[in-house]
Amino acid sequence: MQCLHGFSDRGLSVPSGRFNEPGRFGRMFPELRSLTNFDPVELGKVDGAMDGGNPGPDDTSQNNPRIKAGYTFLGQFIDHDLTLDTTSQLEQQVDVTATINFRTPAFELDSVYGLGPAVQPHLYDRDKPFRLLLSPDGNDLPRNSQGTALIGDPRNDENAIIAQLHLIWLKFHNQVFEKEFSSMPVGRERFEATQKLVRWHYQWLVVNEFLPRICGSKLVINTVGCPRFEFKNHAFMPVEFSVAAYRFGHSQTRPGYLLARPSGPNGRPRAAALFPDDPTIPNSVGDLRGFRPIPPELRIEWNTFFGPSAQSSKLVDTKLSRVMLRLPDGVVPPGTPDKSRSLATRNLQRGIDMRLPAGQHVACHLRIPRRLSEKEIWTTNGAKVGSGLAPLWFYILREGEVRANGRRLAGVGATIVARTFIACLLADKASYLWQDPEWTPTLGKNGRFTASDLVNYALNLSGANEIESEDISKLEGDD
Ligand code: HEM
Repeated sequence: MQCLHGFSDRGLSVPSGRFNEPGRFGRMFPELRSLTNFDPVELGKVDGAMDGGNPGPDDTSQNNPRIKAGYTFLGQFIDHDLTLDTTSQLEQQVDVTATINFRTPAFELDSVYGLGPAVQPHLYDRDKPFRLLLSPDGNDLPRNSQGTALIGDPRNDENAIIAQLHLIWLKFHNQVFEKEFSSMPVGRERFEATQKLVRWHYQWLVVNEFLPRICGSKLVINTVGCPRFEFKNHAFMPVEFSVAAYRFGHSQTRPGYLLARPSGPNGRPRAAALFPDDPTIPNSVGDLRGFRPIPPELRIEWNTFFGPSAQSSKLVDTKLSRVMLRLPDGVVPPGTPDKSRSLATRNLQRGIDMRLPAGQHVACHLRIPRRLSEKEIWTTNGAKVGSGLAPLWFYILREGEVRANGRRLAGVGATIVARTFIACLLADKASYLWQDPEWTPTLGKNGRFTASDLVNYALNLSGANEIESEDISKLEGDD
């Protein structure tokens, strides 16, 4: 069986990156007591309080004008660079500090580079040394004869969108290697110079474009200027981030995506559902499930995902697209019971297993100025869906909905995400933020580097084909 996201063997064979030992999980708020007496099924089941339905492409009621759809998958890509918990069983209490994070908590693209060409030569092109391997036609990830992607983290083949974003990063590395360092002989030194430039652009994009979008610009500036969370000895992955705050992305996911706009007078748009309505039907061309070669029908034109005219992501709120509440075979193993197919139930159950504190307790501890009232937490469309202490993940989604109109994270959620990102960057002595915080990117425009620039550079797009960058200073819903 494939390595599946969230299930027993996913990623166990994955290398841990530049560090000798993989990191561990740990707690950001060890002093807070955990919320355990909570039943996650009522909130998280299909038709439960978190069911956002499957609105069609013409329904714009759940559109987030601040965050375009591509950032959902960039967010998932970042998740796979930072954290991988292979604990498979739900409903089992976990010793957090003994749990191994099979990714390093650093923005170093170990999901792309693996352990490098000497140790993992199958990720690299034998005919073009130090360049990452692509499919023979360059339109897909490299795959073995059974269709399994040869990449540093199998989860980056989970759906056809993240798989194609991973491909963009492979091409970006190859272009940088060829274009920026052509005066150097092909060899390890040139590879390392390329890696450093690629990593710094990625980190700059994360701090200056991705993070402000999801947390608000002011908070990011304050957190970089005065980081209030630092690792004492070794960097670790805080469970408040990996099991609650950063799973906000599950609410951003749309039930389906526009992949390409019509071309020519009689052309038609190409679109596809993320997952099928019936979770038990086998993989077909019609949906975006991954772990197989990408058919031409599912190829993406990136201006539908990044730039001012791209489709929006879904709002950050307590509703998940229904397809996320019934994860299909291929994403979960066939025969998985309904309860465990709901990503909402899974996230809530993991929160209990990892003994996370309640949202209200974290808000109080962090002295968040406008904490949510009991009514704000528990009332949806006039109906009461719960009472008392709230699971951290649910509280964080509700904060986004109530305090930021679903545009982004707010309060507790924004603080945990921004503090974790900046702490990970400052713990990595090779990061641009540690070595040279004033560094400016050279591969975008005007000293900036956006997701649009990443795609333009990786695919060599210019002129009319170039994807415009959005003006980050004018994002809707900033403070
Ligand atoms: C295509 C949409 C996505 C699907 C189908 C998906 C599915 C999953 C599944 C099945 C798990 C394991 C759940 C468990 O058993 O605990 C998981 C974990 C996780 N997801 Fe997603 N996810 C998606 C998008 C995202 C996005 C957009 C983000 C963030 C922006 C995100 C963040 C996370 C995090 C932080 C974890 C925990 C990772 C770990 O520590 O191993 N996911 N996801």
